Amino acid sequence: MRSLLFVPGDSEKKLEKGFGSGADCVIVDLEDSVALANKATARAIAAGFLAARNQVAGPRIYIRVNDLASGLIDDDLGAAMAARPDGIMLPKANSSADAMHLSAKLRVHEVENGIPDGSTAILAIMTETAAGLLAASTWGATNRTPRLAGLTWGAEDLSAVIGAHATRDAEGRYTDVFRHARTMTILAASACDVAAIDTVFVNFRDEAGLRHECADAERDGFTGKMAIHPVQVPIINEAFTPSAQAVEHAQSVIEAFENAGNPGVVAIDGKMYDRPHLTRATRLLARAGVLR
Ligand code: COA
Ligand code: MG
Repeated sequence: MRSLLFVPGDSEKKLEKGFGSGADCVIVDLEDSVALANKATARAIAAGFLAARNQVAGPRIYIRVNDLASGLIDDDLGAAMAARPDGIMLPKANSSADAMHLSAKLRVHEVENGIPDGSTAILAIMTETAAGLLAASTWGATNRTPRLAGLTWGAEDLSAVIGAHATRDAEGRYTDVFRHARTMTILAASACDVAAIDTVFVNFRDEAGLRHECADAERDGFTGKMAIHPVQVPIINEAFTPSAQAVEHAQSVIEAFENAGNPGVVAIDGKMYDRPHLTRATRLLARAGVLR
């Protein structure tokens, strides 16, 4: 999934627009974009909208529920799981144990809704609390739920809890705590062998800024980015689709290894390529859909 567009769950108009945006995934939000007084209405609107779209081809559907400590998550899941979403987004995860906890809840909802056991994915936001960021090392291949499809990060909630006035400096660069959060997300996702999804870019009128941030994210190992406005979707899709040139280069690396009898190292145009380069080329082709 390259682009994941947030749509407030209490807005039928935005839900309609979100599903026509070209996003790979629509994240129907029941959390921060919905006021506390409107939670029940949002559940009803989102569930009604998704039920009416049932079986219609389109983007993947994830539903962002409220966090495990909110007292709202069980009602959220009750409404959400009837819509048979592809996945649930878990905000404010404090450690990988929270994903296990959600997984146990999902199991019950799957039975109740006749959904195959284990088929609902989890995408967790792992840096929205200080505890969550400090527990980044709990995300790993051996202690993760098989439902985990990806990890992502958020700066706004973390800034609020630590008391930071801003997340970026005067030049627009994330300050240290948020760069740390971003870095830990890349590492944790890799340790779990799941997708690393970059956080939102809130200045939705700044297309050049978004392009730049997407390029940095793609360079550093993220495979997709969340969006908050439909205009961001095509920019994100383009940035996270490997270019024809990149695909061609990756193919030439793989061929060079094959033609040389799969050694540890080869030379292409006067440059050394060893096994990590081969891994990188294989990953890129998988992402481009050339390899399965
Ligand atoms: N999903 C679907 N449609 C959206 C959308 C979104 N995330 N954001 C905007 N739109 C729609 C608007 O409803 C509007 O539709 P219209 O032309 O039929 O009136 C159109 O796109 C243009 O919107 P625009 O006027 O540029 O922005 P806005 O002022 O209406 O909305 C936000 C700005 C930030 C309130 C809105 O983009 C939004 O709600 N984003 C998602 C917020 C969210 O979910 N946050 C939680 C995760 S951080
Ligand atoms: Mg939030």
